[in-house]
Amino acid sequence: MSDRNNRKAACALALGLTVALAPAAVMAQGPNDPLHMSTAARKAHMKLLKWNISKLGGMAKGAIPYDAEKAAAAAANLKAVAHLDMGDAWLEGSDSTAYEKSRALPKIWENMEDFGKKFMDMQAAADAMAEAAGQGPDAMKAALGNLGGTCKACHKEYRKPKDS
Ligand code: HEC
Repeated sequence: MSDRNNRKAACALALGLTVALAPAAVMAQGPNDPLHMSTAARKAHMKLLKWNISKLGGMAKGAIPYDAEKAAAAAANLKAVAHLDMGDAWLEGSDSTAYEKSRALPKIWENMEDFGKKFMDMQAAADAMAEAAGQGPDAMKAALGNLGGTCKACHKEYRKPKDS
């Protein structure tokens, strides 16, 4: 048997075992389940926002020396990421009460208009951030404060706190 066939056989075996052993609820949350896919996608989106804002935050705190080019690059990335259309990733039924991997509160789906508005506030702040990031540390910090405020405003309202 070739290596490739060996791998296929091992895969089939692993899948077979999972099917045999996993309870129904776990299977429904398997890697190809829409709940899993959409939640993973929106978390990845959030992580990309964080990855870029962290660089700006590091410069604002002085942990990383301010560098206009690097700041502008991180802010341009953040702006691009902020404007991805991720609407489909907020799948109804994938909230924290229905799906253990999610911290999205069910009230998101009862207040979609406000949730969408908070998203747009973040996009507008990301646009301003992209304008300001290369204009010196003070301009960058001011824009960062506004942007960070839009992340917090939504998390405070619509994300389940870690310990509850
Ligand atoms: C309109 C609402 C909203 C805005 C704006 C928003 N977030 Fe979130 N964020 C959420 C929700 C809801 C979750 C929980 C998602 C889940 O667990 O299904 C989340 C989760 C996260 C997570 C955790 C991801 C994970 O892997 O579990 C990070 C990090 C994050 N957000 C960063 C940010 C940053 C940085 C910004 C601002 C640039 C931001 N968010 C703006 C609603 C928002």
